[in-house]
Amino acid sequence: MEQTFIKLNDGNLIPQFGTGVFQVPDGKETLDVVKNALNLGIRHIDTAHAYQNERSVGKAVKESGIVRKEIWITTKLWPSEYGEGITSQAIDKMLKRLDTDYIDLLLLHQQIGDYLGAWKDMEKAVKDGRVKSIGLSNFESHRLEEVLEQATIYPSVLQVECHPYYQQKELKKRIAKYGTVIESWYPIGHGDKGLIQEPLFTRLAKKYHKTNVQIILRWHIQEGTIVFPRTMNPVHMKENFDIFDFELTAEEMNEIRALDNGKRFFTMTLEEQEQNLGAWKPED
Ligand SMILES: NC(=O)c1ccc[n+]([C@@H]2O[C@H](COP(=O)([O-])OP(=O)(O)OC[C@H]3O[C@@H](n4cnc5c(N)ncnc54)[C@H](OP(=O)(O)O)[C@@H]3O)[C@@H](O)[C@H]2O)c1
Repeated sequence: MEQTFIKLNDGNLIPQFGTGVFQVPDGKETLDVVKNALNLGIRHIDTAHAYQNERSVGKAVKESGIVRKEIWITTKLWPSEYGEGITSQAIDKMLKRLDTDYIDLLLLHQQIGDYLGAWKDMEKAVKDGRVKSIGLSNFESHRLEEVLEQATIYPSVLQVECHPYYQQKELKKRIAKYGTVIESWYPIGHGDKGLIQEPLFTRLAKKYHKTNVQIILRWHIQEGTIVFPRTMNPVHMKENFDIFDFELTAEEMNEIRALDNGKRFFTMTLEEQEQNLGAWKPED
């Protein structure tokens, strides 16, 4: 079985599995992670301005020699870059850091600041070809509907914390009519042992000769969400991508759905996130 793709509401095809580079240091570490992913056949990289490693992502893509259009690059704007006119300039800087002519998917990283002004500039960037698809990240409050009401291009994705303990069932209902797809961050609970070692995953792993993490990732794929687990361990990366040769039954999918218990692994409140906005200095 081959890796799967999802057709977004704007018609673009996104590889359903990718690799995330949150907390991967810029330079050699990011270069290694991205090159290793591309060598394995992974064609989707999830970065952000705030991860401060876009330059290394762009360098690894260039050095891979793979045709640019075969690789999907997602990146995210920080709230200090939101606002009509301001966001457009921020996109130009992003293109330079990534050393590319276009961004496949551009997200608003947080639901803070002048996100309505930013969305207008993102729509313009789609029209002038600097960006292919646009979406949101962490918009879980009524601010999601605020953007949806103003949008002339609906968000193609909504990237939020999502894993078997926090399945975002309500949020999925709110976005269904817009054709927006969930991208799961913390897909394996940020590596939480309690989640990974759930007895249900151990039982299914035994049945399918897979690991517990592979069972979780396969569940995401069959749920129709997009995933990009992060790992700096090449053995883990190979394992994580090796999930396209088996299928969970409808009953097993329901068993995993029943694990939803409302437990989040990211616990910072919106107010704390607002106070944390200046924690790093945006790059040129
Ligand atoms: N939009 C947002 O606000 C937001 C927030 C958070 C994350 N994200 C995105 O989502 C991506 C994933 O989130 P995340 O990295 O925080 O959490 P995650 O992918 O759920 O978990 C990463 C942790 O799991 C471990 N791991 C990976 N594969 C494993 C395996 N096969 N067996 C055992 N442990 C394994 C990793 O350690 P090893 O390195 O040792 O494998 C790492 O500690 C990020 O990289 C980023 O792109 C977005």
